[in-house]
Amino acid sequence: MNAAVSTSAGVLEARNIVKTFSVRREGRTREVRAVNDVSVAVAPGEIVGLVGESGCGKTTLSRIMIGIEQPTQGEVRYGGKPVADRADWAALRRSVQYVFQDPFTALCPTMRIGKALAEPLAIHGLCAPSERDGKVARMLEMVGLHPDVARRMPNQLSGGQRQRVNLARALMVEPKILICDEIVSGLDVSVQAQVLQLLLDLKQRLDLSLIFISHDLRVIRYLCDRVLVMYLGEIVEQGETASVFDNPRHDYTRTLLAAIPDHSRALAAMADNA
Ligand SMILES: Nc1ncnc2c1ncn2[C@@H]1O[C@H](COP(=O)(O)OP(=O)(O)OP(=O)(O)O)[C@@H](O)[C@H]1O
Ligand SMILES: [Mg+2]
Repeated sequence: MNAAVSTSAGVLEARNIVKTFSVRREGRTREVRAVNDVSVAVAPGEIVGLVGESGCGKTTLSRIMIGIEQPTQGEVRYGGKPVADRADWAALRRSVQYVFQDPFTALCPTMRIGKALAEPLAIHGLCAPSERDGKVARMLEMVGLHPDVARRMPNQLSGGQRQRVNLARALMVEPKILICDEIVSGLDVSVQAQVLQLLLDLKQRLDLSLIFISHDLRVIRYLCDRVLVMYLGEIVEQGETASVFDNPRHDYTRTLLAAIPDHSRALAAMADNA
């Protein structure tokens, strides 16, 4: 199956992305090929999972898809057109929001939650200053938090609450696509299940599509419509989640699946906790 989706509105696509980094070690410069000819696309309403072990290039690929990192080769397309100039990237950065891996470092430690949530509205020049507090309160409720959380500092929140705040912050500018990079990895399993359930609710209510990055196959299976398996910078297998899990074709996918002692039981527990 080819990841490239035919031209259409709302589709975010990376085509044939290659990314090499120059790394200096022991006085010598070496090229590291972090991403090697990867294509991925997410269509409206879809949850696409990107799974693979640490260092396989997941974050690098996703950073390229929002323009934080430049690809060595390949292009990013949005709505069927290449994202070419500054205006295109500015538009994409509002429509596509990135939710960071670590809820403990993603928020500025000295900024109240309300201010952190209002900041993207100011940056993007959205809504009058007098309306910002109301919007912050509504967004906190949307992610299952009390509006009073706006007055707190990040260190007064639990990891799960912080990750909800991070989601709220990403949602303030009304994006169409969220790229979630290991957003539940640092959380306890029961809190993970709550955040995943919240993501599914938000996806329905706000009509979002998601790229969900994780090294955890249980989480991918629970959430994703489609999955791409990445290994050493390449996509080695992709397809509908159930068919990849039930009938893995690549040795690496089999190894990943075998590394979960009893994934059906773990999944059932997660669903029960949700
Ligand atoms: N700025 C950089 N300079 C040099 N090498 C880099 C840089 N960023 C990433 N790399 C290398 O590129 C490869 C892919 O890294 P990346 O962070 O994309 O992996 P990942 O799949 O997100 O891993 P993890 O699951 O640990 O988050 C790794 O070998 C990493 O060391
Ligand atoms: Mg990463």
